[in-house]
Amino acid sequence: MAGVTTTAHCLELSVFPTSPYYARVHVQRVLEGWGRSDLVETARLVVSELVSNAIKANASGVPAAEPAAHASPDHVWLDLYRVREAVVLRVWDACRTAPVLCVPDLEDEGGRGLHLVDLLASPWGYHRPSSGGKIVWCTLAAPPESPVDGMG
Ligand SMILES: Nc1ncnc2c1ncn2[C@@H]1O[C@H](COP(=O)(O)OP(=O)(O)OP(=O)(O)O)[C@@H](O)[C@H]1O
Ligand SMILES: [Mg+2]
Repeated sequence: MAGVTTTAHCLELSVFPTSPYYARVHVQRVLEGWGRSDLVETARLVVSELVSNAIKANASGVPAAEPAAHASPDHVWLDLYRVREAVVLRVWDACRTAPVLCVPDLEDEGGRGLHLVDLLASPWGYHRPSSGGKIVWCTLAAPPESPVDGMG
């Protein structure tokens, strides 16, 4: 992921159907390591949607709008880091096309992933780094956990 400052918790994933699973395991491990098990359930849902979208975008074969030396259609990257009272999750793919937030009808088969992200991990957004591709990011609120009540 040249041209992008990654964190110690960056994971490279192949464009493969099992990758959302590994993404979920990764965010769970990192969050547990930070003592933030309270965020695991939400983070697993959100990362699953973002990685699934990134894989679909890469697999769609939509060519990058500009030549991008470091855009690999065979991989996506994921990382997470802490900022004050939040955890930011980022997923990078090789496709320059923007994600589109949909408002799905009951009958719609798809279009729910980003809606879920918007509900659970707002703000979210995307940008196109100079190194190519695109990063979709979202924020999980991580207020300090209230201390366990003392005895008595
Ligand atoms: N990483 C991405 N790159 C390019 N386009 C994206 C990306 N993520 C989402 N999109 C676009 O935004 C649309 C909405 O994404 P969303 O995740 O809400 O729905 P979906 O992936 O189509 O269906 P579902 O997530 O319910 O299976 C997608 O159909 C796609 O066109
Ligand atoms: Mg989706």
